[in-house]
Formats: sequence, C-alpha cells, structure tokens
Amino acid sequence: MEPLLHFERISKTIKGNPDRQLFGRIEANVIRSDKIAVIGPSGQGKSTLLRILSLLDQYDEGEMYLQGRKVMEWQPKAWRQKVCYVAQQPFMLEGSVEDNLRIVSKLSGAEYDSQTAEAFLAKLGLAELDLSKNAASLSGGEKQRISLIRSLLLRPEILLLDEITASLDNHHKHAVEHVLANWQLEENRACIWITHDMEQASRFANQMWLMEEGRLTIHMDVPAFFSNRPLKSAPEE
Ligand SMILES: Nc1ncnc2c1ncn2[C@@H]1O[C@H](COP(=O)(O)OP(=O)(O)OP(=O)(O)O)[C@@H](O)[C@H]1O
Ligand SMILES: [Mg+2]
Repeated sequence: MEPLLHFERISKTIKGNPDRQLFGRIEANVIRSDKIAVIGPSGQGKSTLLRILSLLDQYDEGEMYLQGRKVMEWQPKAWRQKVCYVAQQPFMLEGSVEDNLRIVSKLSGAEYDSQTAEAFLAKLGLAELDLSKNAASLSGGEKQRISLIRSLLLRPEILLLDEITASLDNHHKHAVEHVLANWQLEENRACIWITHDMEQASRFANQMWLMEEGRLTIHMDVPAFFSNRPLKSAPEE
C-alpha cells in the first residue's frame, strides 16, 4: 500500500545554538489508520518534527512525500489542509468561538458544517459553551478543544497532535481520545500524537516513535514496547 505520508533523510539544525543538530537523517512512513504516539524527553525535537511535516518549519535536507507526490509538487496551503498541525499552545483567532470554527470553511471554500461542529462540541464537553463568547477569554483546556475541533472540521488526511490534552482533566482527556479513535475509524485517517503521558500512548497508539539524541526509533509492537518500560508518565517539565 502506498504510504499516505513518507519522509526520508530529514535533518534539522538549530542555527546559532551553536548550529546544534536536533535530528539527522530520520525517516518513516505513515499509512491510513496509523495511530502513532511520539514520545521522548523534552527538547528533542518532537514539536519541530510535526511542524516540519505540516510545512510550518524548515528542514535542512531530505524529502517528504504526501500521497506519492513530493513537497515541491504541492501548494503549501493544500498540503497543510491535508496534514494539519494542532499546536501545543493553542492559538485563537480574533473574534468569537464561532468565528474560530467558521474560519475553516472560509479557508477551504466548503460550507460551514454546523451539525458536525455541534456534535464535536457535545462529545468534548462543550455543549454549553456560549459560541458568541470572545475566543480569547476561553480557558486553556477550552482553547485546546476548540482548536482540535477547528482542525477536525478541515477533514485532514493526517492530524498532527502536539500534547493537546495537556490542560485537560482525566474525564475530558478520555473524551478527546474517544472522539479521535472514532474519527479515525469512521474516516480512515491517520494521527501522529505527541504525548508525555505513557498511559495515554499505550491506550491510543498502534506504533511508537521515540525521539532521542537526534534519532527517531520506530516501535511497531506497542505491547512489547511497554513490557520493557514502566507505564508511568514522564515527569512534566
Ligand atoms: N525556531 C527555533 N529557534 C531556535 N531554537 C529552536 C527553534 N525551534 C526549536 N528550537 C529548539 O529546538 C529544540 C527542540 O524543540 P522542540 O520544541 O521541537 O522539542 P520537543 O521535543 O517538542 O520538547 P517538549 O517535549 O518540551 O515540547 C529546543 O531546544 C528548542 O529550543
Ligand atoms: Mg514540544
């Protein structure tokens, strides 16, 4: 099966630090229905990698393919709609919560799907949220969920999730996992999810990417991966 996303020999140097190589010549394939957890100590380049994969950051060398076509063959906007990054620090656009959800239809040209938006809001514990409220006034956890819904409404092929449940209590964390598991099943899409929460990774993932010391190590057998490690969360920084 042709991979949805493939990258090879990707290297990234952080200029002036002093020209520290964050990672070198890493490669992987992502296929439909992949549920990948990206783990590794802080500062190893996990967010940088996901930002590179959605063309929000530069890389020094290597090549990336989406649906068999090289980066150069894509309009960046079209690539980003298919490989959508949900940031560690959610950003809200100026305006109301609803403006933030409707922006997707403005970007993609598709009609705003209020029914789907409302279904996601309900499943993520936001049914009571006043959508006319200024988005800037939302709590961190509310912003994270709105930012996730905004990305889901784009209907990307691959969702890149950067510690998106970091501000959520256990109940809402599980709700997010549930929504994503169903979305993947129904839409047959892929997720790459950075988390420091090992229990979450073990619940969610069907493969693990470990980023450490400039390398990306891929573990396809999640139970075997955890059988050698304690299932406790890495300390938050
Ligand atoms: N634009 C940049 N300019 C300078 N340094 C950068 C830049 N982007 C990332 N870095 C550095 O690259 C390193 C990796 O950052 P990154 O955010 O990718 O790590 P991470 O693995 O996601 O860490 P965490 O688990 O804490 O989120 C850090 O040392 C960071 O300071
Ligand atoms: Mg990060």
